[in-house]
Amino acid sequence: MINLGKKSDTALIPLDISGLDEALGGGVRPGSVILVAGAPGSGKTSFAARFIYEGLAKFNQPSVYLSFNEYKEEFYENMANLGLDFQSYESKGKFIFIEALNINDDEAVMAILENLLTIINTIKAKRVAIDTITSLLQILGSAKRARELLHSLFIHYMKKRGITTVLTAELPIGDPKLGYGIEEFIADGLIILRTKFSGDKIVRIMEIRKMRGHRATLARLTYAIVPGKVIAVRTPPRIIDIHAPQENLAFQLETGDANYSFTLPRGAQVLVAINPVLDPLSTLFGIACKTRIKLSIKLLYRTFTRSPEEIQWVLKELKCKNPTIEFVHLSSINPTLYSVTELAMMNIEEDLAVKPDIVVIDGIEQAFWLSGGQEIGIREHYNNIQYRKIHNITGVYVYTITLRKLLNANPLLNIYDAIFYFTPRRVNNKIHVSIRVIKSRYKIPTNHITLPIEMFAINGGTN
Ligand SMILES: Nc1ncnc2c1ncn2[C@@H]1O[C@H](COP(=O)(O)OP(=O)(O)O)[C@@H](O)[C@H]1O
Ligand SMILES: [Mg+2]
Repeated sequence: MINLGKKSDTALIPLDISGLDEALGGGVRPGSVILVAGAPGSGKTSFAARFIYEGLAKFNQPSVYLSFNEYKEEFYENMANLGLDFQSYESKGKFIFIEALNINDDEAVMAILENLLTIINTIKAKRVAIDTITSLLQILGSAKRARELLHSLFIHYMKKRGITTVLTAELPIGDPKLGYGIEEFIADGLIILRTKFSGDKIVRIMEIRKMRGHRATLARLTYAIVPGKVIAVRTPPRIIDIHAPQENLAFQLETGDANYSFTLPRGAQVLVAINPVLDPLSTLFGIACKTRIKLSIKLLYRTFTRSPEEIQWVLKELKCKNPTIEFVHLSSINPTLYSVTELAMMNIEEDLAVKPDIVVIDGIEQAFWLSGGQEIGIREHYNNIQYRKIHNITGVYVYTITLRKLLNANPLLNIYDAIFYFTPRRVNNKIHVSIRVIKSRYKIPTNHITLPIEMFAINGGTN
C-alpha cells in the first residue's frame, strides 16, 4: 500500500490527513468508504473532522458531519482549538452538522439517516463523516439488520454519487475486532488508530489494514494530534529524493599555531561525540568562535537543556563575534513534554521553516531518553536525518558520550557522513580540545586537530 516510491495518481482524491495521502500515493478513490477505528482519545473525531474540513477549505466540497457523540457547540469549540473553523462554512451553507445524541430506537435511526440523505441531496455533499458508527450499530441491535441498512446506504447511495465517507468506530482497548463485518462488506479502507506507551509518553500509531486499489497492507505510521494539521502522520522520507552533494561549505579553523581548512558538502550529516568531561555548549561555541566560513552561514542551534538567554550569555563570555555565522534561531525544547514522534515532527518542521544552512542539535541522546522512546526515537531520528539530506540542511548531532560507548551503542553510525570525537588534552598546563576524525566520507586534510579552548572547557571549572 505504501506508495512511497511512486508519483501521485490523479484519479485519487486526498483525505487531507497530513502525511497520509503521500503514503497512499495521493489519496483514495472518490466514493470510497474509509473506516477509522480506535479507542477513545485516539483521534477518530479529529481524523473525520480534518477530512471534512479540508474538503471544504481546499476543494469547496459541501460536506455533512453526522455525530452520535457530540453536541454541535462542543464540536465546533474543540475543532476551533485545533484550528478548524466549521462555523464559517456553516454560515456559507457549505457545511451541516447533524446532532444525533438522543437517538435510542430503530425508528429514530431511520429518521436521522433519511435526514442525512435529504441534506446530502440538498447541498450536493461530496464528503460525509459519521462519528461513530458504533453508536448507530448499538441502537440497531441486530448485525444482519445493520449490514443491510449500511449496505443500501453506502453501496447503493453514496458510492453511486461519488461521495467519499469517513466512518469512525469505537475500538475497545485491546480488542482488534470491530464486529458486524463492516470491514469486509462496506469499507474500502480500514485504518486503526492505536495508542501505546513508550516510557511515560503516549505514542500514536496508525495502522493501515486495508486500502482498496493499493498494493500492500498492514503499514504502520506514527502520528500526532497537533493544532493546524490536526492529525499529522509521520511520512518516511523517500531515499530516492536525496541528491548527490552539489556544493561545499568551506571552513577555516584558526588554532593559534596553525590554520586548518576543510570542506563539508552542504547537506552532510555529522556526528560529534563529546567526552563527558567537556561542556558541550562552551566547547562547541569555543570552536565556532574560531571558525571562519567562506560563505557566511545561517545556524540553528537546538538544545534540550539551556535557554536562549543562557546561550547568549555564554557567547558573550566567550567574546565571540563571528561575522561568518549568523544565529538565525536558538531553539530550546523540554523533551519531557512530548512524545518522541511529536518531538521529531516539531524539530524537522522548525528546520524546514527556518531553513538554516547548519542545524546543531545538542544532546540528542537526552532527547530520546527524556521523551521516553529509545526504540522509536532511533527510527524518527533516522527519518529526520534523511529529511535534512533531502533539503540540503547540514546536520550536526552532538552526543555527550565517551567514544567507546558511542561505537558500542549507536545503531545509526553508518548513516553519518562524518564522525568527530572531542576530548580534552592538557597542553602546557592549559586545557585544549583535541578533535579526532573517527570517520569521514569526504577528504579531510588531517585526522587530528588540537585547539586551545579558553573557557568552561572542563565541567565545573573556568580558567
Ligand atoms: N488542541 C489540541 N492540541 C493537541 N491535542 C489535542 C487538542 N485537542 C485534542 N487533542 C488530542 O486529541 C485527543 C482526542 O481526539 P479525538 O479526535 O476526540 O479522539 P476520539 O474521537 O478517538 O475519542 C485527545 O486525547 C487529545 O490528546
Ligand atoms: Mg470522538
